[in-house]
Amino acid sequence: MEIRVGWFDKFTSRKNEHEEAPSYSQIAAPAPAKAKDRKSLFPRFQSSATDELRGMRGGPDQMARVKLRDAFTPAQPVADIRHMAGRRELINSLIRSLEDQRLHVVLYGERGIGKTSLLRVLAELAHDAQYIVRYKSCGEGSDFSDLMRGVASTIPLLYHADYDPATLDLDEGKSLASLLPAGSLSADDIGDVFARLSGTRVLIILDEFDRSPRGVFRRSIAELIKNLSDRSVRVQLVIAGVASNLSELVDHIPSIRRNVLGLHVPVLDGGEIRELLAIGEEMSGIEFTDAAVGLISSFSCGSPYLASLLGQLSGLAAIDRGSRTIESEDIARGVHVAVEEISQRMSERTTEKVDRVFAQNKGAALVRLARIAMLHGGRLDTVNRGQEMEGVEECRHAIDDLAGLDSGLIIPSEDGVEGRYQFSEEGLPTYIWMLVARERVESTGFAGGGTTTA
Ligand SMILES: Nc1ncnc2c1ncn2[C@@H]1O[C@H](COP(=O)(O)OP(=O)(O)OP(=O)(O)O)[C@@H](O)[C@H]1O
Ligand SMILES: [Mg+2]
Repeated sequence: MEIRVGWFDKFTSRKNEHEEAPSYSQIAAPAPAKAKDRKSLFPRFQSSATDELRGMRGGPDQMARVKLRDAFTPAQPVADIRHMAGRRELINSLIRSLEDQRLHVVLYGERGIGKTSLLRVLAELAHDAQYIVRYKSCGEGSDFSDLMRGVASTIPLLYHADYDPATLDLDEGKSLASLLPAGSLSADDIGDVFARLSGTRVLIILDEFDRSPRGVFRRSIAELIKNLSDRSVRVQLVIAGVASNLSELVDHIPSIRRNVLGLHVPVLDGGEIRELLAIGEEMSGIEFTDAAVGLISSFSCGSPYLASLLGQLSGLAAIDRGSRTIESEDIARGVHVAVEEISQRMSERTTEKVDRVFAQNKGAALVRLARIAMLHGGRLDTVNRGQEMEGVEECRHAIDDLAGLDSGLIIPSEDGVEGRYQFSEEGLPTYIWMLVARERVESTGFAGGGTTTA
């Protein structure tokens, strides 16, 4: 029996290199082939590792896809300040506190809100101002001594106040680490060496701080901040991590409160989301209709991650139908693929619980809570604590409507604050919000479904 599908005929009978390669969605069961042809049965990378478009196989659609993937990178932080939408006020506050007040900074916010992107841009700006910038990503195994020894080992001894370049043999490439005692280091050991730094300033950026071990590691970081601040040392720390408030991220905050600026990274406003899409348009050469911009703005709910994901997926949908303009129908296809992608990251038990809530007609309450969580750093507060707290009433009602916590999707907040709840899984609010988006594009009658070349 001969198994032949349309794409395969096209694939094997391609006349020249510029003919369009099949998209993944077109790939079905492979046909038997001779050993020498078997490689052609497999999907392949669509662009070269050298970033060169020229000389690549594939036609203009292929090139458009490559450019689009560079323009919208939902899985990667912004790496270039020119691709950063909005955030100018926040960056200004960051710089002013580092430069004028000589504070240490803690950036906290929801997953995917843009913390690493901000750190990258800050690093670029600080580097332009001749700071020595050291970026470290924390993890479960982070160790204070190793981390600080690593940082000190990249700072040339030249910057130590006691060393005279004229007399010292600096060619050996020695670093500040050579002045540190052997064995495990205390915050004082580091402070003593950093205190003698002159002729430069150092910014130590610690990302993913929420993943660092509680206990000794975080306490040592707090002690270091205190030590550096008390002695006006030319080293500042910028810490970032997923958290809904400052003290959840950094231990011993009361002792260092005066030395630290806590900055919450908020969702992007409507203008910033539009800017994100406009930057993507410019980079990719693919345009959004006004209606498409409106849909992404409303579906992304201020999340740069969602705006970037939908921008990419709907752009791919437009290219798949041979267009360079993203219309509402492309957003619809993008939303379908996004739901599929996001649901794969949720546990099956959770998605089943969500289905049950919708089947019991309690979906509206769940959606309201998802929206509040997305806008308020994952927090669902039912008690007004005097600060600026929107959505407290709404939250209380929605939890009541959901019949309390029976759904299993809402749990008491991990920070133990009375009257505060959260979703049982991190990506759940985003998933629920995308289900709503899908419902909306389906009910509005835009084309959707199908698979987009991701
Ligand atoms: N201001 C911005 N302009 C354009 N794109 C942005 C902006 N902020 C974030 N993004 C995009 O949003 C996504 C998430 O950003 P980023 O990785 O910086 O978030 P994060 O808060 O560090 O996430 P995590 O908590 O998972 O570490 C990325 O695709 C990034 O490109
Ligand atoms: Mg990050």
